[in-house]
Amino acid sequence: MPDHTHTLTRHDYLSDEVFEIERERIFHRGWFLVGRGDSLLTGNRRVVDVAGESVLVVRDLDGTVRAFANVCRHRGAKLCDGASDSRQGSVMCPYHAWTYALDGALIATPHLSADEVDRSSLPLWQYHAHEWEGFLFVSLAAAPPPFHEWLADDAAELLRLERFRFGELVVGARSECDIAANWKIVVENYQECLHCALVHPELVEAVPIYRTGWVTDRTRDDGGVTFVSAGGFAFDRGPQLPLLPGVDGTDATSYYGGTIFPNGFIDVAGSSAILSTLYPKGPHCTTMVMEYLFAPDTLADPSLDISGVVEFNDLVAAQDNMVCERVHQGVSSKAFTHGVLTTKDEYVVHFTHHYLQRRGPLD
Ligand code: FES
Ligand SMILES: [Fe+2]
Repeated sequence: MPDHTHTLTRHDYLSDEVFEIERERIFHRGWFLVGRGDSLLTGNRRVVDVAGESVLVVRDLDGTVRAFANVCRHRGAKLCDGASDSRQGSVMCPYHAWTYALDGALIATPHLSADEVDRSSLPLWQYHAHEWEGFLFVSLAAAPPPFHEWLADDAAELLRLERFRFGELVVGARSECDIAANWKIVVENYQECLHCALVHPELVEAVPIYRTGWVTDRTRDDGGVTFVSAGGFAFDRGPQLPLLPGVDGTDATSYYGGTIFPNGFIDVAGSSAILSTLYPKGPHCTTMVMEYLFAPDTLADPSLDISGVVEFNDLVAAQDNMVCERVHQGVSSKAFTHGVLTTKDEYVVHFTHHYLQRRGPLD
């Protein structure tokens, strides 16, 4: 008899109590991916939701990335709206116009003189920020784990793909969607390909081994799978896009993927890479931002068209999102205690163990 491993339970996926524990022990304790840094230009800011905490990420005039609570020190108004980038050079509160420099210092308090308010004692509350190979991370912990130790423990797959020189890549397109599913269901779906033949007809044309249900090629020891067309994962839109700077040899016709625990995926396929960042909005909803990365030369050449890459991968993501929402609906059933994981779900098993280890027991 094959040995089945259990999935997480309905309570693990759906309960507010578990989400609160995840906020405390996972999302606000380690490092949390907040997308690519190359699109955050000097003087710009970005507002991100780190599992319920609004965080302002800025690139200071000297190029340093910093993160702050998106909260005014005066009477606590939320400072900035939206999730998109905007260029200001400083941050002004929309309530009484207290203004902060990008290093967090309070620099203006209209109608209040230095005798009336001690500006130097009221900088923005600061969090930790770290930029590595073009990826941006924040930590809300008072004392976050040393970044490189964390990377080795929680994002080892990203580390293994370091040869692709992610720091040189640039964002050419961005997609965003809301998925009516728990974030763990979205991660688990990424970890297996038993669904590929049925759910992703276009993808299995590109990667024949995915028809078998295996997510990796067991005849290869580098974690890659081979795609049949030189274009990788893309609808044909004219000339072949240049390969990424770190891609040569077998890599030119190989796809590699990796998970950045808890909230990211990186996909590399010859001419493009995709960074997907998950923003859990509670137990029942996850926002996913996909950033499409290319060699700078690709984006500089007007004869090249990246839309075939974006449309293909947006299609695959939409197919995935649909089944994730279906799983979320299914696990909400009173009948659901837990599912089962098979040999070909080995990466889901690995994720489940890693998640439970990071989360710890429920009290
Ligand atoms: S609450 Fe921000 S300036 Fe008053
Ligand atoms: Fe999928």
